[in-house]
Amino acid sequence: MMNSQQALDIPKSTSTDPEQDFDDPAPLDTHGPARVIAMVNQKGGVGKTTSSINLGASLAAYGRKMLLVDFDPQGALSVGLGINPYELEISVYNLLMNSRLDPHEVIVGTDFDNIDIIPANIDLSAAEVQLVGEVAREQILSRVLSKVTDEYDVILIDCQPSLGLLTVNALTAAHGVIIPLETEFFALRGVALLVETIEKIQDRLNPSLVVDGILATMYDSRTLHSKEVMTRVTEAFDDKVFDTVINRTVKFPDASVAAEPITSFAPKHAGSEAYRRLARELIARGGAP
Ligand SMILES: Nc1ncnc2c1ncn2[C@@H]1O[C@H](COP(=O)(O)OP(=O)(O)OP(=O)(O)O)[C@@H](O)[C@H]1O
Ligand SMILES: [Mg+2]
Repeated sequence: MMNSQQALDIPKSTSTDPEQDFDDPAPLDTHGPARVIAMVNQKGGVGKTTSSINLGASLAAYGRKMLLVDFDPQGALSVGLGINPYELEISVYNLLMNSRLDPHEVIVGTDFDNIDIIPANIDLSAAEVQLVGEVAREQILSRVLSKVTDEYDVILIDCQPSLGLLTVNALTAAHGVIIPLETEFFALRGVALLVETIEKIQDRLNPSLVVDGILATMYDSRTLHSKEVMTRVTEAFDDKVFDTVINRTVKFPDASVAAEPITSFAPKHAGSEAYRRLARELIARGGAP
């Protein structure tokens, strides 16, 4: 049984100085096997999808071969990368329901270099109920992804805002978890339950799962409030908090409307630089190759 200290044990940040930058990562000569990362918070609207898209695009820009898995029936990740999930005949749902289906039949390329995606649509909302009676129902996504891990450097799973069976599948398939927290008053509400869930998964299903980091999103440097919340988050999670903080800016919803990562929609914007820095930090911490 692991205690919460071990559960959240992640590599130390190379610096505690928020102004320090991280080196540009060296290009990779060979690709795979992928490190699998789940983007999880059962609270809605905290920046899971935005972070999956833009961290994914930034790692891709550093030459990492990325597979992004849309694991939310809303399909926001798919839409945000220019894919209309409702036009697709098969999606991640079919991979969960049919173990003989080849993931390559579902993986689609995007307009962006090094980014493939397994899309989702509303079909996925039925999966949770349909899988309840399955044998080894928590390991289904893990088995699907194992068929393609050799082809990617990082597989990023964008979870839905719930701690149900789909999220348990993502945490069972993952090597690491990133927890985005919106920098507002109730940010920490519910995080204890999330940490407890992660500990249960470590205990019963996936002993090597680690928390890669807590990501503060929608930070507003003009308000004292944001600073106070940041102080509380750092008190609670110490060096598990990424040095990189994502500011609140309307450029993110604008980029979603344009169905592009912000790094391609507005590459010079501070929001783009923030996600590129997060990618450098993740690599520097050993959370990605
Ligand atoms: N840093 C930011 N600044 C301003 N708006 C943001 C930022 N990050 C995300 N948003 C916007 O906030 C909304 C919620 O973000 P997002 O969809 O990424 O959250 P989520 O955690 O995936 O939500 P859900 O739980 O519903 O899946 C979106 O409209 C998005 O464009
Ligand atoms: Mg989302």
